[in-house]
Amino acid sequence: MYPNRVALSDEIKSQVVGVLQERLAEATDMHSQAKFAHWNVKGVNFYQLHLVFDHVAKVIGKQIDPIAERLTQLGGVANGTIRQAAIGSKIPEYPVETINGMDHVRALADALAHYCQGMREASEKIDDIGDEPTSDFFNELIVEPKNSCISWNRI
Ligand SMILES: [Fe+2]
Repeated sequence: MYPNRVALSDEIKSQVVGVLQERLAEATDMHSQAKFAHWNVKGVNFYQLHLVFDHVAKVIGKQIDPIAERLTQLGGVANGTIRQAAIGSKIPEYPVETINGMDHVRALADALAHYCQGMREASEKIDDIGDEPTSDFFNELIVEPKNSCISWNRI
């Protein structure tokens, strides 16, 4: 942890950084899972799904940077390499044998549900720890109109 002028105790900052590390790992993992689906989907609806999966990857990919930077603002080191993400993420591995479109859709929807539940839990946990702005930061990510959590939970 690096010293900074954020008006929270070192104990609070350290606990919040711990939660943010988990979110950073899962955002990085989730982004790579959407890319996997984008690259590998086959079948009659291939092209439409190829585009949809890339949209998901872009939305999640845009969340990685603000999560990592919130973490460093609080004094942490953003453990954001792919290898660190693989260790830190609790999202189950993507079913890499998946081929057809709707199987990819279901696999990605399951992974997104896991990812989005993690964001809700992070928001609650950080609120309990005592950092309301960072809790709100996750609430905004959850409800942002383009967020895949909102549209994909209907599948
Ligand atoms: Fe592409």
